[in-house]
Amino acid sequence: MTNQDFIIRSARKSDLPELSRLATDTFIASFGHVLTKLQLKKLIKQTRSIEYFEKVFDDDEILIAVTEQKIVGYIQFGTIRSPYKNATRDGRELARLYVNSAYHRRGVGKTLLKKALDHPVLHDAEDVYLDIWKSNFIAKNLYQKHGFKVIDEVEWKINGKYLLTYQVMKRTRQI
Ligand SMILES: CC(C)(COP(=O)(O)OP(=O)(O)OC[C@H]1O[C@@H](n2cnc3c(N)ncnc32)[C@H](O)[C@@H]1OP(=O)(O)O)[C@@H](O)C(=O)NCCC(=O)NCCS
Repeated sequence: MTNQDFIIRSARKSDLPELSRLATDTFIASFGHVLTKLQLKKLIKQTRSIEYFEKVFDDDEILIAVTEQKIVGYIQFGTIRSPYKNATRDGRELARLYVNSAYHRRGVGKTLLKKALDHPVLHDAEDVYLDIWKSNFIAKNLYQKHGFKVIDEVEWKINGKYLLTYQVMKRTRQI
């Protein structure tokens, strides 16, 4: 697959079951080894289920990468839901960027990110925030190349138990 072999388009309601499957699989691939089965199940229901996507569909923007009629990646962004310290009022959040691991390193993630940053929701925002696992050097590298800088570090705990450290990154509008 080359860059020309996939298209990026807005997700439609009819995409949500397949999108939820991709989001679930990529979440498990990324976090399956640090969360218990119960925590995974709960977080998937809260943030990757079809019901979740139906709930956020009218508010968030979701772009998907499609090849051979299959969704292989997605990026989700919109108003800020995470508790970022000192976030500006008209700041926006880049909530998720995930690509099916069988399609990594073929330009899908980069293209999704570029399209999202060109979309009016992010393009016109004063600041764009995201969070990222501190040791996720691949994604950090990608975000840094597109103007994001680390501004904060937070420990993620569930029921008081430390799971991992994530970093908050911010991109200020390019004039
Ligand atoms: C991060 C992710 C979305 C990148 O998707 P991708 O389609 O493989 O990325 P691309 O092929 O477009 O590569 C984009 C950039 O990522 C970085 N990158 C990708 N794979 C890399 C690797 N194996 N080693 C180092 N950097 C890498 C490079 O900066 C690359 O830019 P370049 O091609 O100009 O060198 C993908 O690895 C992924 O889904 N990871 C799991 C989920 C995740 O970590 N999401 C981000 C959480 S905030």
